[in-house]
Amino acid sequence: MTDFKMEIALILARHIEGLTAEEIESMIEIPADSKMGDYAFPCFRLAKALKKAPPIIAQELAEQLAGMEIFSQVGSVNAYVNMFLNKEVLSKSVLTTAAEMKERYGSTNVGLNRKVIVEFSSPNIAKPFHIGHIRSTVIGNAIYKLYHFLGYDTVRINHLGDYGTQFGKMIVAYRKWGNKEDVEKEPIKSLLSYYVKFHEESEAHPELEDEARAVFTLLENGSQEEYALWKWFREVSLMEFKRVYDMLGIDFDSYAGESFYSDKMGKVIDILKEKNLLVSSEGAQIIDLDAYNMPPALIMKQDGSTLYITRDIAAAVYRKETYDFYKNIYVVASQQNLHFQQWIKVIELMGYDWSKQCIHIPFGLVSLEEGTMSTRKGRVVYLEEVLRRAVDQTRDIIIEKNVNAEDIDLISRQVGIGAVIFQELSNGRIKDYTFSWDKILNFEGETGPYVQYTHARASSVLRNASLDTEKAELMAQDVDYSFITGESAFALTKLIYRLPEVIIEAAERYEPSILTRHIVDIAQAFNRFYHDEHILVSDPKEKKAKLLLVYAAKQSIKNGLSLLGMQAPEKM
Ligand code: ARG
Repeated sequence: MTDFKMEIALILARHIEGLTAEEIESMIEIPADSKMGDYAFPCFRLAKALKKAPPIIAQELAEQLAGMEIFSQVGSVNAYVNMFLNKEVLSKSVLTTAAEMKERYGSTNVGLNRKVIVEFSSPNIAKPFHIGHIRSTVIGNAIYKLYHFLGYDTVRINHLGDYGTQFGKMIVAYRKWGNKEDVEKEPIKSLLSYYVKFHEESEAHPELEDEARAVFTLLENGSQEEYALWKWFREVSLMEFKRVYDMLGIDFDSYAGESFYSDKMGKVIDILKEKNLLVSSEGAQIIDLDAYNMPPALIMKQDGSTLYITRDIAAAVYRKETYDFYKNIYVVASQQNLHFQQWIKVIELMGYDWSKQCIHIPFGLVSLEEGTMSTRKGRVVYLEEVLRRAVDQTRDIIIEKNVNAEDIDLISRQVGIGAVIFQELSNGRIKDYTFSWDKILNFEGETGPYVQYTHARASSVLRNASLDTEKAELMAQDVDYSFITGESAFALTKLIYRLPEVIIEAAERYEPSILTRHIVDIAQAFNRFYHDEHILVSDPKEKKAKLLLVYAAKQSIKNGLSLLGMQAPEKM
């Protein structure tokens, strides 16, 4: 596909002395009002060298550019050269590319031969997988997909919280009040209830805490019985998590969680000692970060046990050695900002220049309309229940709307779960937001169902025309593009044209909402075109051109949704 901005920069460079095409490209603007052209070039910077007033320069440039095939019109307003692209030239370039690339349309290979780790989701085992976990899970998956689409060699890691002193408590609690059948039936709910009881009981019986510490030490030292229990807790928890990942269509390449690093900490401590970074403080080993305006990093407790931060340091060192990453991305809530600043600083102090390649991608809080959650008090909204409810409500809406879906169960799943994902990715990630049932399942707003419905509508047009979209490239032969130069057709084409750059921007800024926004724009532009123009007209040439545009719009929406982790049903 032609890069029109670059193309124009090259043309301008031939007429402007002293500026490179790259410099010119960076100066070219896209006017907010399309009446001012598809591209505009400001001439202020040229005035000094040319010893002329900017409006004169703009006017002269416009005269020189007029008449070129790439433009339909070139003019000047004040100091700006306003350029209108030849609509047929642009349409041909965009639509033949979409028809050739199909499910790869929008991709580029900027990431070739570079390894990117995306760590996301990372729940704590034996604890509820609740609505608060949706953000890391869904944002992380979209970031992974964006990087993957751009040709990066990606690794998805789920850094499970499966280690730490709380497992001593969990084992003691299970032995005192637990029951095997209950854990097998409802693992997390049962384990959580024992854990809550442990906290209640230990208020009156503080010796329970000592018992838990002793049990954790046994676990750390590899004692068979404790290890078997811990392993079982991990397995049953993971089974529950995987049910949710299946519903969301999410996979991981590695479940190397905190426990994976339990035998890799000694090495890190040795390096820290060697580099004189560790200081003793009341028997514990810490790293002083005062010079960087941060509290000290507690690396090892008095009893020799390590901490969450120690495991993160060990994990980063291990990942660098194992994967030699270009980027090591962590999608973790902004509550952990300080934690990430601390350990990434420690990596830097260890002398590793790759500390800059460890990137924390924070996000804000999600709250519920019903009020806040509290795990301790048992006020938890399980993610699995949210997804189920979204599917059930969608089924009701579909039945009520009397949509003739062939497979209501399948469509309800794709639309219901898609709606939850889409709402999540509509918001800029750093902002806090409130989860709203009314908003997400609305078929008319800027929602997942609206976009999916638009996709199904485009699919149905193509079906009615009996087009074999598998052979889309044939559709792009002998097309008379003059039939799709109307305002709404061209507005749609321009949005399709921008998809590849939007995808790059969303990846570079780790911000899937940029893509979500663009998919909504494409869907709205498609619906305007669908409303303004009759597509299945009798003139075969006109019909052919319009159907090619419908195809490209449908494929762009589908590819965009897929990058967000959503399905695009053909019918709904
Ligand atoms: N398990 C942690 C939690 O639920 C999140 C882990 C984040 N990742 C990391 N490398 N520290 O809060």
